[in-house]
Amino acid sequence: MRKGNIALIGFMGTGKTTTGMILSEKLGYRFVDSDDEIQNKCGLLISEIFKTKGEDYFRYIEMQVIKELSNQDKSIIACGGGVVKSPENVSNLKKRGIIVCLTADKDIIYDRISGNDTRPLVAGKSREEVYNLIEERKQLYTAADIFIDTSYDSPLIVANRVMDTFRLYR
Ligand code: S3P
Repeated sequence: MRKGNIALIGFMGTGKTTTGMILSEKLGYRFVDSDDEIQNKCGLLISEIFKTKGEDYFRYIEMQVIKELSNQDKSIIACGGGVVKSPENVSNLKKRGIIVCLTADKDIIYDRISGNDTRPLVAGKSREEVYNLIEERKQLYTAADIFIDTSYDSPLIVANRVMDTFRLYR
């Protein structure tokens, strides 16, 4: 049955973590953030993992973490924005849950994430470079079951919309 978990995917800055925490409280589900799990597993910050071990290593650990988290039940899984780069991650997340993709206009995403140095793939990047990455990822996010635009709504409103849609799946 594909209803046990809600996996939140989407580009950086679409509000996966904040929305996920609200959802977890409202539904009484456990909240997990894949980036936090990766950091705990490696004993390093995401930026340090990218810097000292490289993106491929990060993706390797991310795949292990997603596999473990996908086996749980009643969890809200906030995924890193690049989780969709691996089809295996997508199929693992779908095994026991629905995948909700949070979206936002590209200029809004840029404003939300620029000036933040915790995200190695966009730190110090120009607006155009970030737009290019958003464009590159677009097709991969179509793997989701549901899409919710977060551009003009608060995380609380977004969480309510996710809940309404989730109910239809039960
Ligand atoms: C990444 C997104 C980040 C984090 C890492 C790579 C990506 O997570 O996993 O920096 O490839 O889009 P958030 O989307 O939670 O910022």
